[in-house]
Amino acid sequence: MYTMDELSKAVERCTKCRLHLSRKNTVLGDGNTDARIMFIGEAPGADEDRLGKPFVGKAGQLLDKALSALDFYRSKNYYICNICKCRPENNRIPSDEEAEACLPYLRRQVVIIKPKIIVCLGATAVKHLIDKKARITSIRGTWFERKGYHIMATFHPAALLRDESKKRLFWEDLKKVKEKYDEVISFEQKTKS
Ligand code: URA
Repeated sequence: MYTMDELSKAVERCTKCRLHLSRKNTVLGDGNTDARIMFIGEAPGADEDRLGKPFVGKAGQLLDKALSALDFYRSKNYYICNICKCRPENNRIPSDEEAEACLPYLRRQVVIIKPKIIVCLGATAVKHLIDKKARITSIRGTWFERKGYHIMATFHPAALLRDESKKRLFWEDLKKVKEKYDEVISFEQKTKS
């Protein structure tokens, strides 16, 4: 089994798809690797490519702000990463081949972190992690159980920057994530004692 450091080195050396040709940095993930929640987005944008960290641009700042209102902080209780670890030029949606080439890295991240809750941010994460045909507008806010993980999808925070009307539903979804998180923590405490 890989450690996160080994995985990070493997991703840095990766040439499995053409995104390696234009990247400045690979972007593996950020946050607490012991967290119970993992947020998964699409792919790095320009800021993330420059800094080598996920969700550090405007969309990431919006997400962090919403999560801090629920007392969720990267350093404390969540881990965040993307389907693709390299930036697609001009922020285009990654192709199926690019996403599939990168998915083994995400699977290894999930094995290392062992989250209880996985939140898919936006359509690309839904397509590759929940169902190729599912539409974010119809499945968002609904819990799925897969291989022992509680999985939910919500809008990508960049979608909220384009369409403010999505903010209310996004917030409702995040509140459900907080409820599930509280359940998970209280179950763990009960079974420990
Ligand atoms: N959008 C994403 O999906 N991921 C990032 O890291 C930044 C923007």
